[in-house]
Amino acid sequence: MNYLRYAPEIERPEPNEQATIDGIIQGMTQQSQTVEAREHHAVRASHAKSSACVTGELTIASGLPPELAQGLFAAPGTHPVAVRFAQGPGERLGDRVSTHRGMAIKVFGVAGEKLPGHDAETQDFVLATGTTFPSGTAAGFLRDGTVIGKATGLPEGVKSAVSSTMRNFNRVLHAFGTESAMADFYGHPFSHPLADIYFSQAPIRFGDYVAKLGAVPASASQRALAEWRLEPHQDEDGFRHAAVAYFREHEAVYELKAQLWADAERQPIEDASVNWPVAISPYRTVATIRLSRQDAYATARVRYFDEVMTFRPAHSLAAHRPLGSVMRARLQVYKALSDFRHGENRVVPANTGRIEHIPA
Ligand code: HEM
Repeated sequence: MNYLRYAPEIERPEPNEQATIDGIIQGMTQQSQTVEAREHHAVRASHAKSSACVTGELTIASGLPPELAQGLFAAPGTHPVAVRFAQGPGERLGDRVSTHRGMAIKVFGVAGEKLPGHDAETQDFVLATGTTFPSGTAAGFLRDGTVIGKATGLPEGVKSAVSSTMRNFNRVLHAFGTESAMADFYGHPFSHPLADIYFSQAPIRFGDYVAKLGAVPASASQRALAEWRLEPHQDEDGFRHAAVAYFREHEAVYELKAQLWADAERQPIEDASVNWPVAISPYRTVATIRLSRQDAYATARVRYFDEVMTFRPAHSLAAHRPLGSVMRARLQVYKALSDFRHGENRVVPANTGRIEHIPA
């Protein structure tokens, strides 16, 4: 297989990209203000409602072939990790609304040159369900984000109707003048958060190469949950309760996989809405994440994960620089929105550098 190499020129920013990013920051800040007024607390502008806050270990496979032994994965070994699982929206909705979810991973003890402004020995991978980011680009997100921004003001009952009755979907949306961008957003199956696969959706530099990442459930107990569905209306915090119940009894294991870039036409860097065909290059395992049995929602720890700790694509090795339009926007937007919410809540954010800083 002839994998394509990383070079700075593979990124092609739009001439007016900064204006788009400023627009996203402005739009998401307004949205956050709306949610803050309702919740009397500032929460993440995306992935606000956590379902599990856990720690564990990432073990880099030994004997990786040279094209996979890159960046963090260049040397076999074990690193502590912290993982925050959360529902998608930037507000803490009841779980009769099912949405895409996120898995934010912080790897500790990571030596090597970091991106400017990242001053901890860590590498974050901020993943979500779905292989693509449907908005595709920062400009696409600004357009669709406006739609979701409008939706933030809608009553929760409407979002719930959208989520549970996809047949009525267009009718509901048309009634509120919104578009199909909400389909993925509020239409995720009511699956178990620990049975889902999580993806980077957009590419990162992979040392000499480029890759998208995926975290695939790898234990028998997770696989046994493949058909599990939350009964909507059964429990407003059903996904959290399911995750906590799981971690009380079982460990969770993920294979972290890299899909190397091999075709510049059919695997574009700038448009994250394009699925990179696995027939061109498959996802290949580079590490295993093991999250042991634990209390996945301990009060002090959840407070730290939700209110203090920050997960960002910008918390990265230079060797894993996030790439493409969506990623360049994320490099700025997460900091801006975290500064906003931490400022509102009068909490000093932490770029947590050591696993010991996390409450037990
Ligand atoms: C233009 C595209 C995107 C924008 C503007 C955006 C914006 C944001 C913002 C503002 C936050 C909250 C940050 C904070 O307050 O600390 C956030 C969190 C998050 N985003 Fe995104 N996002 C984008 C794309 C993505 C993609 C492609 C993924 C995954 C594939 C993703 C997954 C997540 C997750 C998992 C979190 C929660 C992180 C945590 O637990 O702290 N986002 N996003």
